[in-house]
Amino acid sequence: MEWAAREMPVLGMVRDRFSKERPLSGLRVAACLHVTSETANLMLTLKAGGADIALCASNPLSTNDAVAAALTELHGVRTYAIKGEDNETYYSHIQAALDLRPCLTMDDGADLVTTLHRERTDLLEEVRGGTEETTTGVVRLRAMARQGVLRYPIVAVNEADTKHLFDNRYGTGQSTLDGIIRATNVLLAGKTFVVAGYGWCGKGLASRAKGHGANVVVTEVDPVKALEAAMDGFRVMPMQQAAEIGDLFVTVTGDINVIDRPHFERMKDGAILANSGHFNSEVNLRALDEMATDVRQVRPMVQQYRLANGRRLNVLGEGRLINLAAAEGHPAAVMDMSFANQALALEYLARHWSELERRVYDVPAEIDAEVARLKLRSMGVEIDTLTEEQQRYLSSWEEGT
Ligand SMILES: NC(=O)c1ccc[n+]([C@@H]2O[C@H](COP(=O)([O-])OP(=O)(O)OC[C@H]3O[C@@H](n4cnc5c(N)ncnc54)[C@H](O)[C@@H]3O)[C@@H](O)[C@H]2O)c1
Repeated sequence: MEWAAREMPVLGMVRDRFSKERPLSGLRVAACLHVTSETANLMLTLKAGGADIALCASNPLSTNDAVAAALTELHGVRTYAIKGEDNETYYSHIQAALDLRPCLTMDDGADLVTTLHRERTDLLEEVRGGTEETTTGVVRLRAMARQGVLRYPIVAVNEADTKHLFDNRYGTGQSTLDGIIRATNVLLAGKTFVVAGYGWCGKGLASRAKGHGANVVVTEVDPVKALEAAMDGFRVMPMQQAAEIGDLFVTVTGDINVIDRPHFERMKDGAILANSGHFNSEVNLRALDEMATDVRQVRPMVQQYRLANGRRLNVLGEGRLINLAAAEGHPAAVMDMSFANQALALEYLARHWSELERRVYDVPAEIDAEVARLKLRSMGVEIDTLTEEQQRYLSSWEEGT
């Protein structure tokens, strides 16, 4: 946790201010996040701000047990998470965090918020607002707002530029490769590396895989993203075609069954499949299980499925986010910005909740700009400022050719 803190100067500055101003004083916060050393630093920041916190995991495989123990025993943060917990335990931990009777929630994927809305409606009256960390959670919460069932305002931290442009792109790009390499120790150079989805995560992953010397193929459903991938120099094709040539496949779409039965049938012997999207729904593991004549664990994070055609397909980390299942998630330097946004968004909600409606809000632009400014300062990078003449010019229409 101290090692991560060294790379999180922006969150450190927020924490210093929080300990003086105590903006979260007396507020109960239920947080459902990947329980990592970076998250621990966010929890300590909220605690410095005066919050009373309960933390549970946002994925059964992403918990760092030592961090969970340290938070509970040394820092008085109730933490409900065990790496490898089954689905029942996972949801019982969410219930335990909700037992705090939160007035603010912090979620990553919206499992806590949906549990609260489905099973603990008695608690909703006291909840003032919440934040959401990731793309998939924002999609789910927007659907709730559209259907009129969302009962309190949410700030979508994912939508901050200082979150998705860096965390999703550079964080997922690097840490997904880290997870694949730790799980398999394969050489990426010369391999055909298929990236499904060219959103923020996909862009980062494709560029980092290319940097390792892999031949990167992109699959997409959005014509604009597909065009972008093609112009960034990647081969773009349907998964059905990519299935035949790929050595490694990684899904980062937030979608379901992106790699499915017809694709498994075409894959080469020894193909490696991983997912870095939020849920383990992107590779249809149920279909693969039905197709397999034999399944065995060949390395700690590798399950090998033998098909009737004799080919073996290797699935990493049970199809769960591989960067957190087999590695340590994003490096602290990038979580610094995501979690500074989280802390500041929670402070914003604590101050403004009564003015907000029951819908999903973007992070206020001032918070985004403040996080970028603090990060640049911590990196020792200075930038120019608009002169008065430039400000006038950029806001006028009089001057032309
Ligand atoms: N592993 C991590 O640490 C981490 C970090 C951030 C986000 N995420 C998760 O990763 C996923 C992607 O996030 P993002 O920010 O890149 O989202 P995004 O919306 O920017 O990109 C997703 C892309 O996938 C494409 N897509 C959808 N269905 C597809 C299909 N069937 N085949 C091919 N492409 C398809 C979409 O057109 C889109 O371009 C989400 O589930 C998000 O929650 C994971």
